[in-house]
Amino acid sequence: MAVLEISGVWKSYGLVEVLKGVELRVEEGEFVSVRGRSGVGKTTLLRIAGLLEVPDRGEVRLLGREVGALGDGERSELRLRYVGLVPQVFGLIPTLTVLENVELPMALAGVGRRERRERALELLGQLGVEGLARRFPRELSAGEMQRAVIARALANRPRLVLADEPTSNLDEESAALVVELLARLSREEGVAVLMTATDLRERLPTTRDYVLRDGRLHPLRG
Ligand SMILES: Nc1ncnc2c1ncn2[C@@H]1O[C@H](COP(=O)(O)OP(=O)(O)OP(=O)(O)O)[C@@H](O)[C@H]1O
Ligand SMILES: [Mg+2]
Repeated sequence: MAVLEISGVWKSYGLVEVLKGVELRVEEGEFVSVRGRSGVGKTTLLRIAGLLEVPDRGEVRLLGREVGALGDGERSELRLRYVGLVPQVFGLIPTLTVLENVELPMALAGVGRRERRERALELLGQLGVEGLARRFPRELSAGEMQRAVIARALANRPRLVLADEPTSNLDEESAALVVELLARLSREEGVAVLMTATDLRERLPTTRDYVLRDGRLHPLRG
């Protein structure tokens, strides 16, 4: 089943045409990477897939549902329930602790206090940062923050995970851990995972890889 289907998507900012007819389909259990140099439109594509941005033309389907005609409220609702976004710019809430940040999407989805605390601690544990649960974001290193953001993205057991350069702030070991976690999510839990990266040569445990160039996706040859 296709979790995400993007067809004929175009997007410009002013006179700059960023996406020019993007086609992409990500099925349950697939782990797909989109590579490309800085400024080619990777974040733009991910934000469109995450229903944060609306394309100028083309269709976006999430779990078979065309989202183009939906209002902001319905788009937020779908995002909260089905999409885990790991943004390139983190957006942790500075006045909440790491634990509270991870709990927040679950609180918004109506998960009970006790269950959300347990799940948040479990996720932080899987990412090796459970010891930082009571700290505030400003007290974390970039790599630690990255892992807290990933925990937050996974909180509501999303069907689609969108990770925007999730390894760019991490040392080699933590980067491998994060990528392996994403691979396992797709493999074992059937989550559809889409991640971006700048390095075209890096070997990733993905099932498909693309390069974004001239506004379109091209298969990456290994
Ligand atoms: N809100 C915006 N308004 C105007 N231009 C924008 C906006 N967002 C992105 N752009 C432009 O669109 C192009 C694509 O940006 P995008 O952030 O998608 O690139 P990227 O591939 O994610 O780059 P990086 O690897 O540096 O994160 C860039 O030229 C950027 O300057
Ligand atoms: Mg980007």
